[in-house]
Amino acid sequence: MDTSFDMFWETEVPREEEIISLTDFAGIITYVNDTFARISGYEAEELIGKPHHIIRHPDMPKSSFTDLWQTIKAGGEWQGYVKNLRKDGGYYWVFARVSTMIKEGKAIGYKSVREPVSEEKKRIMQAQYDLLRAKEEKRTRIVLYIDNSKLGEAKALEK
Ligand SMILES: Cc1cc2nc3c(=O)[nH]c(=O)nc-3n(C[C@H](O)[C@H](O)[C@H](O)COP(=O)(O)O)c2cc1C
Repeated sequence: MDTSFDMFWETEVPREEEIISLTDFAGIITYVNDTFARISGYEAEELIGKPHHIIRHPDMPKSSFTDLWQTIKAGGEWQGYVKNLRKDGGYYWVFARVSTMIKEGKAIGYKSVREPVSEEKKRIMQAQYDLLRAKEEKRTRIVLYIDNSKLGEAKALEK
């Protein structure tokens, strides 16, 4: 029973470390820093060469990413709250800034830097994304309640 519900486990995002990834113009990952790899649960080598949607969480509405791509393709900086999927099925919330990477006056790809999100903001964004997703994709998120005695290690996570 102790591994069946891993998809619900949240990973804390550190405040002191930056979570960085770089992509080419098609959103293929070209670099991740150590913190990105650790938080996402992947080895850096597993991520490089993969589309960034490898960490897309099913809770994220499509419109967030449509907006992201429109903004960065037009040369702007996109900022937004993103719930990401870990390799082990868990998740983590970030506030992300995505923009064009410029080297010697030339655009060479996209970069993203991320920060942690407050508990209050996570609740607000989850509710907002639940509504958007239900409207856009006709998919509803269901929250499951289970007796703590059946969860074992969940007890250790109780605050
Ligand atoms: C620099 C950069 C960083 C990105 N970071 C994320 C991310 O952390 N999580 C995510 O789900 N999508 C991220 N995206 C967007 C993905 O490329 C993709 O659009 C999204 O996951 C939705 O997948 P889809 O476009 O295949 O529907 C990023 C894109 C760029 C250019």
